[in-house]
Amino acid sequence: MMRFVLGIVLGVLLLPAGAYVWFKYGHPPVAVADAPLPMERQITSVPLHARIDKEAPTEAKAEANEATFIAGAHVYRQQCAFCHGVYGSKSEVGEHMFPDAPPLWEKHHGEVVGVSDDPAGETYWKVANGIRLTGMPAYKSVLTEAEMWQVSVLLANADKPLPPVALTLLKEPLSFDTPAGAAMVKPVAMAKAGAAK
Ligand code: HEC
Repeated sequence: MMRFVLGIVLGVLLLPAGAYVWFKYGHPPVAVADAPLPMERQITSVPLHARIDKEAPTEAKAEANEATFIAGAHVYRQQCAFCHGVYGSKSEVGEHMFPDAPPLWEKHHGEVVGVSDDPAGETYWKVANGIRLTGMPAYKSVLTEAEMWQVSVLLANADKPLPPVALTLLKEPLSFDTPAGAAMVKPVAMAKAGAAK
């Protein structure tokens, strides 16, 4: 009996000691370029999807129309393009993150464009709450409720024909230090300033 108890105590002590040795000397992945841990992706995505399934609104609070798409394109340019790229050109940094920021205007799995296969409510949840331990920020204190819905509904319709004004915005190259870039950022900033008054 004594031996059994001693075995358990030793086992309990060995576990954290082993973990410490591994953290200190085992070169666990800490750099973005390191390989992922075994099953890292699966382990983090199970609780995330359970939470989203429970909390994501089932009905979109913005209509899928021209005004929403154009407003969403402004939000996208200002807040998302830096990491997720624009229509026809990838972000310079997005693929060098861990996990990487997927290009949201690229076709994959047949006709899917970005997250057009996800309901707007799921994207809304991710935009509002962010995704922990990734570079995906939480926007609920940055964007208004309406702006988060506009960009989410836009992304849910990324595989559909979009109004030319929205497409022009989404196709502009990424640099904001051009007059065109500045002109695109302004309307959102001004709308916000107006709303704050
Ligand atoms: C600082 C970089 C960064 C910015 C800015 C950013 N994101 Fe992300 N986003 C990420 C990363 C990294 C991921 C991948 C997270 C993961 O793999 O779980 C991600 C994931 C996502 C996903 C899930 C993609 C999928 O395949 O399921 C959506 C949708 C998304 N972002 C939308 C947005 C929107 C909309 C904005 C702007 C309002 C935005 N992001 C701004 C980095 C960013």
